[in-house]
Amino acid sequence: MAWWHSAVAYQIYPRSFADSNGDGIGDLRGIINHLDYLSQLGIDVLWLAPVYSSPMVDNGYDIADYCDVDPLFGTLADLDELISGLHARGIRLVMDLVVNHTSDQHPWFIESRNPASPKRDWYIWRPARRGHEPGTPQAEPSNAGSAFGGPGWEYDPASGEYYLHLFSRHQPDLNWENPEVRAEIYQMMRWWVDRGVDGFRMDVINLISKTYPPQDGPVGPDGLCYDAALVANGPRMHEFLKEMNREVGISERELFTVGEMGNVDAGLVRSYTAEQSAELGMVFTFEHVLLDQASALKWDLAELKLSRLKKTLASYQYGLADEGWNALYLENHDQPRSVSRFGDDSPQFRVASAKTVATTLHLLKGTPFVYQGQELGMTNAGFTSVEQYQDVDSLSFYQQAVSAGLPAETALVALSVKSRDNARTPMQWDADSQAGFTTGFPWLPVNPNHVQINVATELSDPDSVLSHYRKLIELRHNLVVVQQGRFELLLPEDEQLFCFTRSLGSERLVVVANWSSNPVDLPSELQFAADAELLLGTHSDAELGLAAWESRVYRLA
Ligand code: GLC
Ligand code: CA
Repeated sequence: MAWWHSAVAYQIYPRSFADSNGDGIGDLRGIINHLDYLSQLGIDVLWLAPVYSSPMVDNGYDIADYCDVDPLFGTLADLDELISGLHARGIRLVMDLVVNHTSDQHPWFIESRNPASPKRDWYIWRPARRGHEPGTPQAEPSNAGSAFGGPGWEYDPASGEYYLHLFSRHQPDLNWENPEVRAEIYQMMRWWVDRGVDGFRMDVINLISKTYPPQDGPVGPDGLCYDAALVANGPRMHEFLKEMNREVGISERELFTVGEMGNVDAGLVRSYTAEQSAELGMVFTFEHVLLDQASALKWDLAELKLSRLKKTLASYQYGLADEGWNALYLENHDQPRSVSRFGDDSPQFRVASAKTVATTLHLLKGTPFVYQGQELGMTNAGFTSVEQYQDVDSLSFYQQAVSAGLPAETALVALSVKSRDNARTPMQWDADSQAGFTTGFPWLPVNPNHVQINVATELSDPDSVLSHYRKLIELRHNLVVVQQGRFELLLPEDEQLFCFTRSLGSERLVVVANWSSNPVDLPSELQFAADAELLLGTHSDAELGLAAWESRVYRLA
């Protein structure tokens, strides 16, 4: 068993966590000021989203210097202090590793713009499509779209060629085929490990090996192909991950690694995370967060069916039962708030549904990730005007959709459901005017519901969502069956109940959860009454059925 098989991780999006100097933007000193909060929560690992030098086009996922901290967030000395403060509390630090692309302001890319430079080949430069005049419509080398909309190739008039950017045009993709690029990245990773970092969350990592030459794919309404399957999981993916593992000493030093990967299934994740592969510790998959969209576009809203969610999560539970490992998450800085998306964030059911969604996730096998504010039951932002949004992805969707004729109200509804800014509003520390996040003016509006939903209130309430998270984390630490037990899904077709068992030797847990805003009867085989120990429940008066959003965890005798 690796150490992270019993761990719970917490994600901080530094821009939105805590601002120490009143400029309205969260920073490292803000995190240092709240270390005791993380400690009382009981988490083992902190994943820190990027704090590196960056022009901030994508809030730090566009890196201009991998070995320095952006002044907005503080200094390297602050980061050293954060590392030692965490280690003193038994918490390990995992840094974000964004190496599929850099910022277009990174010195490597600036040099690479010159075709004669030795760095030209560090990025993916290609001439215009055969028979097309460079820089004219449809002259891009392939029809690849960027994840943020628009073409994935940017024309560079100075050299007459295009560079590939699978994200914004300010995020050019690195050429991993070039061995110098790989060596440079491994050296940078070793430099962080030597500084005390305990592992890496690897941004869009299965895009680093690409299929060449760039191919055209099936097109959407705007003539571009947004199917990343065409570029993901390229032929050298396993080779690169094994090389990275060896060169950085990932397995040898027991470093924590989680790779972010779209376009995978349980079989592929097993191949990346099986111990003998010596590649990754675990993978953030996407299938379960794509179920509420109707097409390849996340803005194309569809209703989520519980049976499909259960089937998807179960496929990874079964597929990784004997080999490989799961990263468990419902929320992060790219996803809407889980209580608004999977639960019911109305005042009547917010607390119960946040707890029940959490219980379900935390009783699965794998390493659970809590995203800042999720442990409070923080909700979506509730923005009603486009001026309130900041996210590059959200704004480019809105501009493109509205100029293509989508009514602005429809675009605003899609944003209110799916925008990444839903999860990026400031952390709610207390009921003060700016939720205790800043003494200045926050970069993104504070949710008005911070008056009710905040750390100060929930810390002192034994029935709060926060108290429930502490119990869930403790349960994982205390019970080997939560860490290791085999998963079995019950009632797969039921659209209200999410029920499953976890078994290890003679020990058996049963989780019964009502994922709906209506009461529900339990089938007789799941009515335990007196013959089972209730380890954790959301409601106090245990009836035979379940109240709306009620859940229970039983241990069978
Ligand atoms: C990942 C990050 C996301 C970022 C993208 C490009 O998906 O989580 O925030 O925009 O990669 O780096
Ligand atoms: Ca600040």
